[in-house]
Amino acid sequence: MPEEKIRALRETALARISAARTVEELEAIRVEALGRKGELAQISKEMAKLAPENRARAGKLLNSAKDALEEALELRKREFEQAALSARLDAEWVDLTLPAPGLRPGSLHPITQIQREIEDLFVSLGFMVLDGPEVETEYHNFDALNIPSEHPARDAQDTFWLTDGNLLRTHTSPVQVRGMERFRPPLRMIAPGRVFRNESVDASHEHTFYQLEGMMIDRDVSVAHLLYFMKALLREIFRREVTVRLRPGFFPFVEPGFELDIQCFICGGAGCPVCKHSGWVELLPCGLVNPNVLRTSRIDPDTWSGFAFGLGLTRLVMMRYEIDDIRLLESGDLRFLQQF
Ligand code: FA5
Repeated sequence: MPEEKIRALRETALARISAARTVEELEAIRVEALGRKGELAQISKEMAKLAPENRARAGKLLNSAKDALEEALELRKREFEQAALSARLDAEWVDLTLPAPGLRPGSLHPITQIQREIEDLFVSLGFMVLDGPEVETEYHNFDALNIPSEHPARDAQDTFWLTDGNLLRTHTSPVQVRGMERFRPPLRMIAPGRVFRNESVDASHEHTFYQLEGMMIDRDVSVAHLLYFMKALLREIFRREVTVRLRPGFFPFVEPGFELDIQCFICGGAGCPVCKHSGWVELLPCGLVNPNVLRTSRIDPDTWSGFAFGLGLTRLVMMRYEIDDIRLLESGDLRFLQQF
C-alpha cells in the first residue's frame, strides 16, 4: 500500500536526517528520498494505479511527507552552519583584556654601539666629537693632508670621484683638517664616520665602511702620548688581553707613522680569510702629525705637535664580536642584526 510505504519512508528518512553528521550525508538523503528518481517519485508513479478517492488521500500524505522532509533537511543544514560558525568564532576568539604581546624593540647597530662607547671614552679624556661631510673637497681629503696630486698615496685609496671635482671621502682624516680650521690648539678631537673606497669587496674589505679619526695637538706631544691613548682605547673596547704589534707605516700626514695591528680574533692568529691568512688585522694606523699638515692649517709646528690615528671601526666591530665576514654588517639582514 502506497500510504504505508509513504509513512515508513517518511520515518526512516527523518531518522536518517537527524542522525546525519555532514552536509554531504544530508544531500545524499535528499537525492534518495526527494530526487527526481527518488523513493517518493517512485511511489508517486505507483499512485496512478489507485482508485481516485484513495489517490487523493495518498497524494496529500505524499505532499506532507515531502514538506516534512524538506523542512527537516533545511533545519539540519542550518544546525550544521550554526555549529561551523560557532567553531570558527571559538577559534577566532580573542581576550581583549589580556596584555598586548608588545613590539620587539629594535636595537642599535653594533657599529653605532661601539662608536658610542669610544665616544664616551674620549669625551671623558677631554676630546671633542666632530662631524664632517661625506662629500668632500679634494683639498680636505688629499692636499691639506700632504698628499699632492702626483703622490702615490692617492692610489692606495681608490676614490669615487664626483663629476663636479669633489669626491666621497676615502677616510675620516679630512675632519682633522676641518677641526684645525675651526679650533685653535690645544686641540683634542675624534671624528667617527662613514668612508667610501672604490675597491673590490671581500671578507675584510667593504666599499663603504666606518673609521674613527682621532687627533690631539698640544705642546710636546710625543709617541708616548699616542701609545697611552691607543692602549686605553683597546683596553676599553676588548676588556681582555689583546696581542698587538706596532710596525712602521707610511702616511704622508704623519711622521713617524705606525701601523698598529691586532692578532686576529677569528682564527686566534692561525690565519683565515679575514686576516688574509697573516694572523694579524690592520686596525689602527697612527703617528705624529706631519709638520707640513700643521703648517697648512696655520699652526706653528715649532710650538705645537700632535698625534693622529685612523681606527678601522668596522674591523674593530668584527674583532669584538668575532664576525667573520664584513659584508654582514651592511647587509641589513635582521637575523644578523637581532643578535646585538
Ligand atoms: C687611513 O685611512 C688613514 N687615514 C688612517 C690614519 C689616520 C693614519 C691618521 C695616520 C693618522 P688606511 O687606509 O690604512 O688608513 O685605513 C685605516 C683603517 O681602515 C685600516 O687599518 C682598516 O682597519 C680600515 N680599512 C681600510 N680599508 C678598508 C675596507 N675596504 N673595508 C673595511 N675597513 C677598511
